[in-house]
Amino acid sequence: MKGFSSLSREEKLDQVARLFDDPQEFVKELNSFRHPKYRELLDGFSENTLTHYPLPYGVVPNVIVNGTLYMVPVVTEESSVVAAAAKSAGFWAGRGGFHARVISTTKVGQVHFTWKGDFRKLQDHFPELKEKLLKKTAPVTQNMVKRGGGIRSIRLVETARSMEHYYQLMAEFETVDSMGANFINTCMEEMASALVEYMGGSGHFRGEEKNVHVIMAILSNYTPDCLVECRVETGIGDLGEQEGGLSPEDFARKFEQAVMISRMDPYRAATHNKGIFNGIDAVALATGNDFRAIEACGHAWAARSGNYSGLTDIDLSNHMFRYSLTLPLALGTVGGLTSLHPLAKRSLGMLGNPRAEDLMMIAASVGLANNFGAIRSLITRGIQAGHMKMHLSNILNRLEATPTEKEKAKAYFSKRKVSYRAVETFLLSLRKQHHS
Ligand code: MEV
Repeated sequence: MKGFSSLSREEKLDQVARLFDDPQEFVKELNSFRHPKYRELLDGFSENTLTHYPLPYGVVPNVIVNGTLYMVPVVTEESSVVAAAAKSAGFWAGRGGFHARVISTTKVGQVHFTWKGDFRKLQDHFPELKEKLLKKTAPVTQNMVKRGGGIRSIRLVETARSMEHYYQLMAEFETVDSMGANFINTCMEEMASALVEYMGGSGHFRGEEKNVHVIMAILSNYTPDCLVECRVETGIGDLGEQEGGLSPEDFARKFEQAVMISRMDPYRAATHNKGIFNGIDAVALATGNDFRAIEACGHAWAARSGNYSGLTDIDLSNHMFRYSLTLPLALGTVGGLTSLHPLAKRSLGMLGNPRAEDLMMIAASVGLANNFGAIRSLITRGIQAGHMKMHLSNILNRLEATPTEKEKAKAYFSKRKVSYRAVETFLLSLRKQHHS
């Protein structure tokens, strides 16, 4: 289909509606989800927008990070994520909360290029080339420098062993409170053209050496030096008796085994880390951050040793339970959607308009809260009891339960195991009673 993107929204809707047996209903339904007030703004965030897709926007209360109490805004479609985070945050609020620190905030960009010549000669002239790169990017970096950021380093990387004649310019950036993706990409494209200009025009290189072939210029979403660490700790005895009558000592030992498994086994590690990103992504979405970038980076970091492993660490020495999460988190609190999306703006307001570093610590805390909650459930009563309880309202909606039926079902299942079949049977018996 050619020219789809230049059709009007209505025309696009009509085209897509042809895929349905009830095209008019489809158009009506999609239009009903279009935001009455922010339609133009939301349409403009993407291409080929047909309507808007609402997700629950909620809050995790009682998140104490370095002594400050936060209500943390979260957007997620998974019912148990918020409940798990809230339960863990409450548990740790009574035990000193989360202790977090930002270890580093460096971001990265690369120009990938091929060049046929003597690398040592290129290295010898690199100081001069670097000056040209900095000069070319100066108009772009000016404002960032005023805010305390900018280019921190530029290196020439020899990678010719992995692919013939292949090299990189590798730049490190400080982007202060912005995630900085556009800024870094613009800088890298400027550097790429400065590189081509320099090699062709400096007079140091001859013949084929004058030709640099730029393959691409782009930021790297792998930011191992944009690191945050977050931990919780308490005396093992202070963990209290756990569900299923597990003593604090047995709980701590079983917890340690669960964490060790996530360090050894990639199958478990992926699920363990998914639980962490349940919380982090929800905060990223609520604050207008790029959760795909954050996940991509987190998983690359989890595989940095060559073996993909869990992102958390546990230490049970000296009768203490110390549990920590360290991961790269490139988050921003200015620029991009953070100020354009009215709810992202409100989210940041809810957090007291934090600096990017504060948001890194808050998001990591919610990630750790989610993971702690998941492991705690897994090693005690299992995950399904809680999950299905949270899922009850979805099942009731799917079975088109009335408000009264929902109320009765919630009371009935408060002490019973929830499954689709059990809820269906319960509703059928209610409806039968009603009709007899
Ligand atoms: C579900 O969204 C996340 C968990 O599977 C995480 C975990 O197993 O650690 C519960």
